[in-house]
Amino acid sequence: MAVAAAGVIVAALVLGGLLASSGTGAAPAVGTTASGQPPSPSVTGCAYRQRSTNVRTGPTARKRIALTFDDGPSAYTPRVLDVLEDAGIPATFFVVGRNVAGREEILKRMLADGSVIANHSFTHVDLSKASAAALAQIDDTQEAIEMATGFRPCLLRPPYGLTSRRLLRALPRRHLTSTLWSVNPRDFTRPGTAAIRRRVLAGVKPGSIVLVHDGGGDRSQTLAAIPSIIGTLKARGYTFVTATELLGLRLSRTSP
Ligand code: NI
Repeated sequence: MAVAAAGVIVAALVLGGLLASSGTGAAPAVGTTASGQPPSPSVTGCAYRQRSTNVRTGPTARKRIALTFDDGPSAYTPRVLDVLEDAGIPATFFVVGRNVAGREEILKRMLADGSVIANHSFTHVDLSKASAAALAQIDDTQEAIEMATGFRPCLLRPPYGLTSRRLLRALPRRHLTSTLWSVNPRDFTRPGTAAIRRRVLAGVKPGSIVLVHDGGGDRSQTLAAIPSIIGTLKARGYTFVTATELLGLRLSRTSP
């Protein structure tokens, strides 16, 4: 890290500390990236709520659900974003940190389109032992995403859903909430577009968090399935929101 950036980071930490001590519970509203450049999107982070458990669903009182994409960004992600844009809905992208370099514009588009970026480790490893190396996977991904976009995630999805009390204890100081899922069509096994669609539609209930993948392999079946999944669930009266919104977490933004 460049020495010149250190002052910016110290300022950001102080600002974050002030905000945290104001009792809002919000993540630091950092106005610049560590490179000193103003972020192109105005969204800088999201409120964090301390939890000692994994989140698997949102509130069930309303027909709201969150569509979440893991393991990207990849070459499929822009086409997923096109589908979401056509449908006029946001999603949540649990990004693998090593995939960020060279795909910064895709991440910026996610935020510009109203979707939210979240943390899925740096190289898609088991985080459950919460070793120093595992925690570095989390921190390096936070930094990669923030450097690319100016946005600092508040949700973490441990790869494979492998979690532990030790991991959960390491998350509060990182302002991260462990976010799993309630509907898993196992699209990564490539069971066919129809099976992906059928499994999601059979599983969705109010408050569902749906897990599909935009990276990690051939995602053409997932890509083909999502327009009709979205259309059918809309027809059933469901509203699509980001996982942060589903969990009642506010986004923080730069001042205009
Ligand atoms: Ni994954």
